[in-house]
Amino acid sequence: MTVRPYLPKDKDDVRYICLNSDGECDLSKRGRHFILTTYCDYFIEKESENCFVAVDENDKAIGYIICTENFDKFKKSFTGEYIQRFRKYEFLRRKHALKSFVPQENNSKDYPAHLHIDILPEYQRMGLGHKLTDTLCTHLRNKGVKGVMLTTWVGNKAARGFYEKYGFKLIKDYKNCVAYGINL
Ligand SMILES: CC(C)(COP(=O)(O)OP(=O)(O)OC[C@H]1O[C@@H](n2cnc3c(N)ncnc32)[C@H](O)[C@@H]1OP(=O)(O)O)[C@@H](O)C(=O)NCCC(=O)NCCS
Repeated sequence: MTVRPYLPKDKDDVRYICLNSDGECDLSKRGRHFILTTYCDYFIEKESENCFVAVDENDKAIGYIICTENFDKFKKSFTGEYIQRFRKYEFLRRKHALKSFVPQENNSKDYPAHLHIDILPEYQRMGLGHKLTDTLCTHLRNKGVKGVMLTTWVGNKAARGFYEKYGFKLIKDYKNCVAYGINL
């Protein structure tokens, strides 16, 4: 398995991984739409140059790391375009999507970039998370980005263990979620 830059042909696989990295997705259609709109589509559509995939022997994506290098750029596009992808009556989902980026906004001075990483269950704990993160950090460092952060659900022990082992420092515990960051 190798890591390579994201290509347009990976889009369906990346969206599948986004929904199924914690096991088979049982969300409703609108629930899946929420997850993909909030945590996936902006990155692969607007900043594909900051996205990488882990692929199997058939060059099929089985994991990814996706990123925005600049929170302000992300916010402008997300609030202008992506939030409109929710239906008018989905005001709670709109609110939830916007609220999910408060930690990134609060810390964007030190950590202008933020990422999402997901690997299909059968490929987890094989070192791919480290490889993907190494690739992204080198890429961002070469671009002069000073730090990258992420948030995860407070009870996500596997992800928290992974980030801490990799060298991310806890920025803040926000009750439901925790923010981690690394200086580049
Ligand atoms: C979190 C994730 C990206 C880590 O990638 P990975 O390829 O599995 O991690 P690596 O093999 O590079 O590193 C393994 C280390 O991560 C931690 N880790 C990964 N999965 C773990 C698990 N299920 N339980 C406990 N620790 C785990 C451990 O520290 C582990 O080291 P060890 O095996 O020596 O104990 C991946 O497991 C994943 O996609 N999980 C489901 C989706 C998810 O939670 N994504 C993050 C959302 S914020």
